[in-house]
Amino acid sequence: MGVFVSSDGTDAAGHEQVVFCQDRHTGLKAIIGIYSTALGPALGGTRFYPYESEEAAVTDVLNLSRGMAYKNALAGLDLGGGKAVIWGDPALDKSEALLRAYGRFVESLRGRYYTACDVGTYVPDMDVIARETRYVTGRSVEHGGAGDSSVLTAWGVFQGMRAAAEHTWGTPTLAGRRVGIAGLGKVGKYLAGHLIEDGASVVATDVSSAALEWARTTYPQIDLVEDTQALITSDIDVYAPCALGGALDDDTVPVLRAKIVTGGANNQLAHPGIEKLLEERGILYTPDYVVNAGGVIQVADEIEGFNFERAKLRATKIFDTTSQILRLADDEGVPPAVAADRLAERRMAEVGRLRSIYLG
Ligand SMILES: NC(=O)c1ccc[n+]([C@@H]2O[C@H](COP(=O)([O-])OP(=O)(O)OC[C@H]3O[C@@H](n4cnc5c(N)ncnc54)[C@H](O)[C@@H]3O)[C@@H](O)[C@H]2O)c1
Repeated sequence: MGVFVSSDGTDAAGHEQVVFCQDRHTGLKAIIGIYSTALGPALGGTRFYPYESEEAAVTDVLNLSRGMAYKNALAGLDLGGGKAVIWGDPALDKSEALLRAYGRFVESLRGRYYTACDVGTYVPDMDVIARETRYVTGRSVEHGGAGDSSVLTAWGVFQGMRAAAEHTWGTPTLAGRRVGIAGLGKVGKYLAGHLIEDGASVVATDVSSAALEWARTTYPQIDLVEDTQALITSDIDVYAPCALGGALDDDTVPVLRAKIVTGGANNQLAHPGIEKLLEERGILYTPDYVVNAGGVIQVADEIEGFNFERAKLRATKIFDTTSQILRLADDEGVPPAVAADRLAERRMAEVGRLRSIYLG
């Protein structure tokens, strides 16, 4: 894939800036993608992953940074979209010096890009990166950071689910509904707690015995099933994918019994077109990047000096944003995924345009 033009001669991805960073001594090879700064500095995590090729790393950073622009726009943040990848195996290649070298490259962008955690990078890594740059979020609480972002991710998913429940059944509650959670990890666990408190019954599955043991001891009322297939074909009202991406594919959607899909996992639609399949089956899908934005809201709050209550209030607004998207989808006769994209593009264009007003 080209960065400026694709093989068919069209604009490849529309990114503002893509930066390749290399430090031979530490072995650092990183790519920072800035899709848009129309709303403010680009914010998005750093993925540390052993890509098969440089092309695979470039493709990932381009897709991820574009996704962050849409997510941040709909989260109501004054932040654009960016993301970075470090090409390497975090288990073998991560070192203090490599992370600090990376931090210096982030610093060199002078605030056009703020980084955060993603797959393969963790809160302690952000503390190390912060020794070289101011432009980092997701640090530990001891270092003024927001800590574990899954707390507000789960809270936001719960708000999105309440909005979908109101749209479908008339009341913004999951009380009396049966919700199936695939993945009782950091997000799934908190989500289970919110649902139980709301009066829902929860059925769940996980491949990790530790996660299952956690459920048995913390919430014995959760029904545990063998696997995701058993979960989605059981009698559930809502399906909450909270494990890996691609949860909604050509095999899953036709057998899904839920009326609503709302979950924390990123990139739930396995390929473009799945949103139409969901609509044809009368299943309401709340776009993942809308409902799982609580985590980025949590870390973004660090830029102002972290205040949990302020961040929680902002994540609570995911209820309103989801409702707005579902109404827009109805009004414009498009799936919610399309309506969400339109709303994000509208905000980036309308608010981004204000920069053209000269301030002297
Ligand atoms: N943590 C956040 O703040 C955040 C923010 C936005 C999006 N997300 C997304 O939410 C999802 C979950 O994130 P997390 O932080 O809870 O991760 P996690 O690694 O803590 O949890 C994932 C859980 O899914 C389980 N799992 C993996 N494969 C499975 C399978 N086939 N069937 C059932 N369970 C399976 C794992 O055992 C694990 O318990 C990911 O897609 C992540 O990208 C997380």
